[in-house]
Amino acid sequence: MKLAGKRILLTGASGGIGEALAQVLAEQGAILLLHGRRSSALERLRKGLPNPDHHQLLVADLMTATGRAQLLQHPILDEPIDVLINNAGCNEFAWLEDQSSEQVERQLRLNLEAPVQLCRALLPRLNHPGLIMNVGSCFGAIGYPGYSVYCASKFALRGFSESLGRELKDTGVKVIHFAPRATRTRLNSTAAYAMNAELGTKTDTPEVVAEAALQALMREGRNYWLGWPEALFVRLNGLLPALVDRALAKQHAVIARHARQRQPLNTEPKKHQDQGETR
Ligand SMILES: NC(=O)c1ccc[n+]([C@@H]2O[C@H](COP(=O)([O-])OP(=O)(O)OC[C@H]3O[C@@H](n4cnc5c(N)ncnc54)[C@H](OP(=O)(O)O)[C@@H]3O)[C@@H](O)[C@H]2O)c1
Repeated sequence: MKLAGKRILLTGASGGIGEALAQVLAEQGAILLLHGRRSSALERLRKGLPNPDHHQLLVADLMTATGRAQLLQHPILDEPIDVLINNAGCNEFAWLEDQSSEQVERQLRLNLEAPVQLCRALLPRLNHPGLIMNVGSCFGAIGYPGYSVYCASKFALRGFSESLGRELKDTGVKVIHFAPRATRTRLNSTAAYAMNAELGTKTDTPEVVAEAALQALMREGRNYWLGWPEALFVRLNGLLPALVDRALAKQHAVIARHARQRQPLNTEPKKHQDQGETR
């Protein structure tokens, strides 16, 4: 799709990938509805974009039905949109038994329930041709220790995207599942970065991911996996999971050491040591 003049709702625009994506979309001449929870961060972003007056802000917590209703009932969304990008997300890098029920719920609600509900509610307001991009993860096809709940949410998002894309066949609305690998943003905890460094896991910048997302939107394919060897592992895991079992078994002790340096259950939600902020 050519994006100049298109109205695009981008959730999670105040985050690392969202912010970089807003930049490249605005450079294409898109009209952005920038969503996040932090209005000051969104306003700063808007002011720094090309044509700042073309873009509008939507502040809402997507975890709750009330927050989603606040977004959906906003007058900005009375006019149809051309593209919906479900990008807002969160993760917890921790063994399942070390996670609180709230941490589990947060990941399932924000990464899965929110995009499903936004697609459902916004489909009637999408122009035809229209695009939906659901931002998944390579962990939406590789079950990785320490990310069981995040993987559950992203596997499900992938299935949802595939199913919805087939449901909408011939309607003029296409569904793109876009799956980055590890990316340097505030999403990942200090422990996750330390593990990635020890294992030599490659990490992309948000700018690289945003450029790939832009290409995906312009090409309108249905599945995009970023990075090598992650894209290979995705295919291998589908065909020969025992091979991936063996590769991950070699990393298990390192993963466990980093994943399990968490506070015990039933304490406050994690503090990002680098931001001093609860997310
Ligand atoms: N970073 C990675 O390694 C990586 C890898 C693969 C896939 N992804 C996916 O890429 C997407 C963007 O991630 P990111 O790395 O850019 O994360 P990020 O920097 O942590 O940004 C997350 C975004 O989601 C928003 N958000 C968080 N909780 C929310 C809530 N309850 N309601 C509404 N919005 C909420 C944040 O808004 P506020 O900041 O305003 O609260 C922020 O805009 C996610 O879907 C993630 O799963 C990331």
